[in-house]
Amino acid sequence: MGIVIRDALAVLPGGKGPETGRHTIYIAGDLIAGIDEKPEGFSEDEVISGKDRLVIPGLINAHTHTYMSMMRNCADDLSFMDWLFGRVSPIEDQLTSEDAYWGSLLSQIEMIRSGTTTFNDMQMHVHQTTRAVRESGMRAVICRGLVGDACDRSDRRLQEALEEMNDGKDCDRLTFLLGPHAPYTCGPAYLRMVADVAKEKGLGIHIHLSESVTEIENMRRDHDCTPIEYAYRAGVFDVPAIAAHCVQLEGNDISILAQNGVSVVTNPASNMKLGNGFAPVQELLGAGVNVCLGTDGAASNNAQNLFREMGHLALIHKGTHRTPQCVGAPEVFEAATIAGARALRLHTGSIEVGKKADLAILRLDTASMMPNNNPVAALCYSADGSETDTVIIDGRIVMQGRELKTIDEERVFFEIRQMCGRLGL
Ligand code: NI
Repeated sequence: MGIVIRDALAVLPGGKGPETGRHTIYIAGDLIAGIDEKPEGFSEDEVISGKDRLVIPGLINAHTHTYMSMMRNCADDLSFMDWLFGRVSPIEDQLTSEDAYWGSLLSQIEMIRSGTTTFNDMQMHVHQTTRAVRESGMRAVICRGLVGDACDRSDRRLQEALEEMNDGKDCDRLTFLLGPHAPYTCGPAYLRMVADVAKEKGLGIHIHLSESVTEIENMRRDHDCTPIEYAYRAGVFDVPAIAAHCVQLEGNDISILAQNGVSVVTNPASNMKLGNGFAPVQELLGAGVNVCLGTDGAASNNAQNLFREMGHLALIHKGTHRTPQCVGAPEVFEAATIAGARALRLHTGSIEVGKKADLAILRLDTASMMPNNNPVAALCYSADGSETDTVIIDGRIVMQGRELKTIDEERVFFEIRQMCGRLGL
């Protein structure tokens, strides 16, 4: 199958960040096969006009929990610990794996509709999520959330997590990480054991670190260190690691993250909504840390729309530093695209020949995008994601003219309504 996007404005990697220009993009199979140069033997099965369109790499949501979308707007304006242990965990305990399947599909609809093509998911219900990913056509990196205290290699969840990775055997849109949940739910011996298993099996790690002030205080009281030092000592950073949040950093935390090549996922809406603050992104970028962007789950955000996050990321650091040069639009764009691909070790995140064909095509003829003075700035400061017209993932059109091609949206909405009635939400 050959798809050509003809003569569109497109954001490509340039020498000093993203560059916008008019290009024709050729997609053959699952790859970007040519830019402005038609590959030999290319068959134009589908031609998409680039008139009034902007092509960007599909956005990468580097931290979420897709199954939680049914908990949207049912645990708001609560402290972090009340939110997690008082409200979210009790609902989570009632969820069936079928609920998680529909919940994940709802999140995936919202992501596709706002230009996201890949997500990094920490999960309780891996089989149902991989089933949803196979159907939706999205690209996903999945880990089972692990919690424990003892050094026990026969730990049920760990064994299940390793077995669940077989779900990706015949689907190259699915890859896996190990997911020790957080320092406050994983004891030192357990965390060390998970890190050892990751090292042996060549897996990366996805973990929550330094999210709330309470977490820092408890860690100081119990272990006399920061959560970053705790994870470092346990060997978590000996493998490619992705740390969600990193809001409360102190002492040597930033240099530990930088020296160990840890990717940090900032989740501005979730962090602010839970009153946790936000990651010191300007300082992390200055230290050379790979900073990517995530939504976190819909229970704490309450959306799965990376355009909102780009807007927050572009604004909050300028406001708090009282410096408008802080975290500019090109850096925000890269956090939402190539930085996520780097963290997840995927061959996506930029429009380049030979990369996977994961693209979002946005309308430029909307009030929010008009006039088209600076498309990269428009993505961060003006767009809300509803400009997303067509989405291509792995060379397959999953939405065209805002019509979803792979998911029955009405059916998902019906199931979610039923589920919320049953759960008393
Ligand atoms: Ni999270």
